[in-house]
Amino acid sequence: MAKVVVVNTSPRKGANSETLAMKIAEGAKDNGNEIQVFNLRELEINGCKACMGCKKTGNCVQKDGIKDVLEAIKEADGLVISAAVYFGQPNAQYRILEDRMFSFIDGEFKPFIAPGKKLAVVGTSGGDPVACGTIADGILGRLGGFFKFDAVGKVAINGCNPPNVAAGNEEALAQAYEIGKKF
Ligand SMILES: Cc1cc2nc3c(=O)[nH]c(=O)nc-3n(C[C@H](O)[C@H](O)[C@H](O)COP(=O)(O)O)c2cc1C
Repeated sequence: MAKVVVVNTSPRKGANSETLAMKIAEGAKDNGNEIQVFNLRELEINGCKACMGCKKTGNCVQKDGIKDVLEAIKEADGLVISAAVYFGQPNAQYRILEDRMFSFIDGEFKPFIAPGKKLAVVGTSGGDPVACGTIADGILGRLGGFFKFDAVGKVAINGCNPPNVAAGNEEALAQAYEIGKKF
């Protein structure tokens, strides 16, 4: 059985980003995968300290909540990650996780982690119809480029200031579920 890690980085519990990520997870589970979920809002997390300790070992020296997430991703066959647009960028908790993925590469940017982990991304925004897709594409591009994840899809929706918009968007939910089936 393959393992898929879901990381919800948006701080709002049960809101749009998480709803879509969990729908991808449902598709992945129905396809026979084991699912492990992390909600960054529940964890004590710190930013990268640029100590370069990881460059020797491939492991971040910090012992916080992100350490467990990084270890789970390392062992997993796939990753579902959700983020919201905050001031045109992925929200801060997402940024912290991505910076800490610096520990996935050595000093020459060669990955310590196995290539080819499947990756699906959810991006949501409030009023900018382009930004949700832009942040999702950015995440797919960086995680694919630096850490050799293989993109299986993205779901990006705007109009998400109310927390329950995604839950009523049948098209986005169906798209998310179908992406999950690709894991
Ligand atoms: C601090 C902050 C900054 C935001 N900046 C933007 C923005 O630049 N563009 C945008 O379209 N929406 C922006 N939003 C709205 C969020 O992207 C939107 O509510 C998001 O879908 C929330 O995701 P969630 O439902 O998973 O919490 C911002 C929200 C917050 C709290």
